[in-house]
Amino acid sequence: MTHAVSAAQTPAQPAPDSSKALYGGKGTRRITVRDIAAAKERGEKWPMLTAYDAMTASVFDEAGIPVLLVGDSMGNCHLGYDSTVPVTLDEMTMLSAAVVRGTKRAMVIGDLPFGSYQEGPTQALRSATRLVKEAGVGAVKLEGGERSAQQIELLVQAGIPVMAHIGLTPQSVNAFGGYPVQGRGEEAAQQLLRDAKAVQGAGAFAVVLELVPAELATEVTRILHIPTVGIGAGVECDAQVLVWTDFAGMTGGRVPRFVKQYAALRETLGGAAKAFAEDVVGGAYPAPEHSFH
Ligand code: KIV
Repeated sequence: MTHAVSAAQTPAQPAPDSSKALYGGKGTRRITVRDIAAAKERGEKWPMLTAYDAMTASVFDEAGIPVLLVGDSMGNCHLGYDSTVPVTLDEMTMLSAAVVRGTKRAMVIGDLPFGSYQEGPTQALRSATRLVKEAGVGAVKLEGGERSAQQIELLVQAGIPVMAHIGLTPQSVNAFGGYPVQGRGEEAAQQLLRDAKAVQGAGAFAVVLELVPAELATEVTRILHIPTVGIGAGVECDAQVLVWTDFAGMTGGRVPRFVKQYAALRETLGGAAKAFAEDVVGGAYPAPEHSFH
């Protein structure tokens, strides 16, 4: 006698509930940290993009991107600075509020700019409170592992969800002397693992891993129960984030090797500007249908 069960007799496995998916799900209310934790439990990957204004944010929200980061990359990509270091809390608050106004479903995360949390937990709480109250963000992000754990702990105790950011932390560009890959070599890898555990222990709901070897990011993703959000950190992270001007081909000049460009907006927009200029110079615009009598 055999106890083998044929395929026809195998009890049907419940299909995963795709209606709850962060990307492609049916939900219309704002995404919360609980939805993000549930996605990690389901083993679901999700996309995140930066946004710095209401209109671009509305495009990404309508496309179903579940999490939008008002990153301090706005320094380079929106405000014309040459790094993230000069970005102020006033600038972050104003642009975060615009992104919140432009979205209905995405969780909007505001970045704490350089100098707005390094003094300690009290300063971090004051800055984060501004972003939550004045801009309406659902969470904040800050850089640093062990060195920022106390700040994370106080914000979480105060009811402010925190996304941590370890590996290459661009606000430390002057200390790093550029933007080198982090976590290479045994000692650096061990520090990254300690940082990852420290931010999880302090209560962060997710952690960005920037410019970290893929194997190390895989290890961090395996040992943490909070999701990892990779940028230049390989395919095994729970989520992936890109700066919108990079992924859309809007950034001028060279983009980092980890960026995949999904559009060529700079070329398209430049072409449109030239076509408009030629029409104006040649008298083809405005045409009769654009004129009033
Ligand atoms: O500021 C930013 O856009 C970021 C992402 C690159 C993670 O920190």
